Amino acid sequence: MAAMGNRTGMRVLVTGGTGAFGRYVASALLDVPALRPVFLVRAPDATAARARIAEAVAFVRASAGLRAAPAIEAIPADLADPAGLRAAARDAGALLHMAADTNFDGDCEINVEGTRAAIDLCLAREIPLFHVSTAFVIGEDPGPLPEGPLLAAPRSRNGYERSKWEAERLIEGARPRLRATVFRPSIVFADARSGGAPEFANLFRYIRALDVLRDEVEHARAEEPELRIRLPAPADGRFDLVPADVIADLVAGIVADPRLHGGHYNLTLAEPVPHTTLNEWIVRAVGFPEGVLVFDGTAQNGTGARFERALRARVAGFLAYAGDRKRFENARMREAARALGLPVPRIDEAYIRKAVRFCREAGRPRGRRAR
Ligand SMILES: NC(=O)c1ccc[n+]([C@@H]2O[C@H](COP(=O)([O-])OP(=O)(O)OC[C@H]3O[C@@H](n4cnc5c(N)ncnc54)[C@H](OP(=O)(O)O)[C@@H]3O)[C@@H](O)[C@H]2O)c1
Repeated sequence: MAAMGNRTGMRVLVTGGTGAFGRYVASALLDVPALRPVFLVRAPDATAARARIAEAVAFVRASAGLRAAPAIEAIPADLADPAGLRAAARDAGALLHMAADTNFDGDCEINVEGTRAAIDLCLAREIPLFHVSTAFVIGEDPGPLPEGPLLAAPRSRNGYERSKWEAERLIEGARPRLRATVFRPSIVFADARSGGAPEFANLFRYIRALDVLRDEVEHARAEEPELRIRLPAPADGRFDLVPADVIADLVAGIVADPRLHGGHYNLTLAEPVPHTTLNEWIVRAVGFPEGVLVFDGTAQNGTGARFERALRARVAGFLAYAGDRKRFENARMREAARALGLPVPRIDEAYIRKAVRFCREAGRPRGRRAR
């Protein structure tokens, strides 16, 4: 049985609300008066389900200095059990499907099968589906990724990307009977308000690695002024890193506004940042020796080969994404943001400084994986 709240508005069943990014969307949904979110959570019973989502949302709100969340409804269920999903959706007016296996090395089967179950449910109940995909459905293709269906199979870089494309393909196959809106975030990073994140994945791993190596590199450079540590990525790559709270607000706003339903939204930076610029911001924020890190697409070892090995060992999965020159169209996203009076995703040096500060204050990172 669901733990009951006292909200009014459209009831939206939400999967994946406990996730690293999902919890930002959960928190944003709870602030939209027109919505009544109920969270499907893996847990043994309703009390435990509510405790899990409440804890996840409390992290977001405490770190961003927001008031505590209103009452939260939660239903214990596993997406792998379609009967549980159907029962959870009994009186839902929409389904927001975010749950996924985000481990690049995992089998990611739930990303396809869970979406299949979500589609079946929405068709049977005649309710709209809101699906959180990823901008990296594009795989190795440089793009630009249209804000529309990606029909041809991409050259995916891992099983995760492939599974997210397969899930989108199922959705496209179920239109027009299925009313679906697809959100494609790029790399979700720190909360713009606090610099915070519940786990230190993706760029946080790189920041942390520079922090750990900083003193040693400083000493080495004193003896070897020409020391260079090469990063295996082309100098003209771009980084698409979006603040979790900014895109969570966009997702919640679009779900609540029927004028904006349907199609695809690439939730990506309004102005992509060259990774040389991003790297300069990080180097200054961390206090890493300047001019030592160089981007080099040929990935030859530099004079600092031992540091290159140390960096690669810590952030190999993430550095694979640092080579991207991808482009993502996002005119629809910008138009929706304007209609909702919300900001578009942007990052600057102050944002990176906040993230570095948060990462240091939170102590040793607990990051599970680069994403
Ligand atoms: N984070 C990013 O950088 C990023 C970028 C682009 C797109 N996305 C997409 O955004 C969505 C949310 O990402 P995230 O960062 O929040 O992921 P995450 O931290 O890995 O969390 C995954 C969520 O899915 C739930 N889940 C997984 N398997 C489930 C199952 N069988 N039944 C019920 N729930 C299940 C997890 O529940 P438990 O808490 O029980 O494990 C958790 O709430 C995903 O669809 C992801 O592909 C994320």
